[in-house]
Amino acid sequence: MAKLSIRDLDLRGKRLFLRVDFNVPLEKKDGGMVITSDKRIKASLATIEYALEQGAAVIVASHLGRPKGKVNPDMSLRPAAARLAQLLGGKVKVAMAPDCIGGQVAQMLPEPGEVLVLENLRFHPEEENNDPEFSKALAALADLYVNDAFGTAHRAHASTVGMIAYVSKAAAGLLMEKELQYLGKAVTNPERPCVAILGGAKVSDKIEVIVNLIGLVDRLLIGGAMAYTFLKAKGEPVGKSLVEDDKLELAKQLMEKAGGKLLLPIDHVVTESLSGDALEGTTVTVIPADKLAVDIGPATIEAYKQVISGAATVIWNGPMGVFEKPPFDKGTVELARAVADSGATSIVGGGDSEKAIKSAGVASKISHISTGGGASLEFLSGIELPGVAALTEK
Ligand code: 3PG
Repeated sequence: MAKLSIRDLDLRGKRLFLRVDFNVPLEKKDGGMVITSDKRIKASLATIEYALEQGAAVIVASHLGRPKGKVNPDMSLRPAAARLAQLLGGKVKVAMAPDCIGGQVAQMLPEPGEVLVLENLRFHPEEENNDPEFSKALAALADLYVNDAFGTAHRAHASTVGMIAYVSKAAAGLLMEKELQYLGKAVTNPERPCVAILGGAKVSDKIEVIVNLIGLVDRLLIGGAMAYTFLKAKGEPVGKSLVEDDKLELAKQLMEKAGGKLLLPIDHVVTESLSGDALEGTTVTVIPADKLAVDIGPATIEAYKQVISGAATVIWNGPMGVFEKPPFDKGTVELARAVADSGATSIVGGGDSEKAIKSAGVASKISHISTGGGASLEFLSGIELPGVAALTEK
């Protein structure tokens, strides 16, 4: 069902509660905290600028990290507020509140054309508990609600779900809309052939995604350590490779269900251990008992590239090997290049897949890199995200 968009709201002179996902990575430096990637702040910039241009007073709210309901100065949103002010070109008043509810915040509410960044919502346990009183207190700050936090839409918290019961209208922000548009089309009506590339360590992390995608895609290319659970289930030797023995039966069932759609590596890069500096691998088709597989081999790369080159849609989640330890990044990097060159609409899930795309230097050629790791996985699993479900229908 289509949800209300920020573009459907009359924002002039209104106070807007804008839930964003400013859960940015931070690093301690010279006694302070420094943002190491501002991607998530940049991703919501268009929505913030739009609201300001439309004459709204903007209250920006987010969580950062997992402070477990306690104030933790290392997880303050203050650096994010400072970065936002810079990204707005220094032309907009961006104030930082000491909390997200309460008297001091009420004193600082922004005027039209101004921004107030609330302090980390998760400093209050009531945020994650989706507490009604806390929800009411957040809702009381504003006239309208917009959720741009796709990355947090899989959490049913006070700021993503609870407070919506106490606002007149709840709309999707521009980033949220873009995420739903790309991921929504991919899982409902993709251009065909539609190819999914799934990697990462564990089958157990991706069961729902695999089950959902088997029914949707034309080809499912499996790589990463999870491939070895499938190969062991087929009776192939996997040596010391990472295997989830309690998922072998499930892997068999998934392969039966997928039939010829599911492709597994036909050769492997193996090594003795992942420790030490000068890592080296050998290509094999049969994994020796004393070795572990750390990447897909050249024949697999070629076979997978062939499939990717004919795709109209590619959905990618998870690396093909231990890509953070070169040279075991080769399979992931080569496939990233193949996806970029394929001309297909390409959708990449957050986290490791995004890092892989960046290390291959092809991020600009990917149609959509999701800002949500967990959220995009749940979406691809066919699960309705509570933060989206809660928004007002058009
Ligand atoms: C994320 O980084 O995936 C989101 O910001 C959600 O964070 P969480 O996993 O701590 O809820």
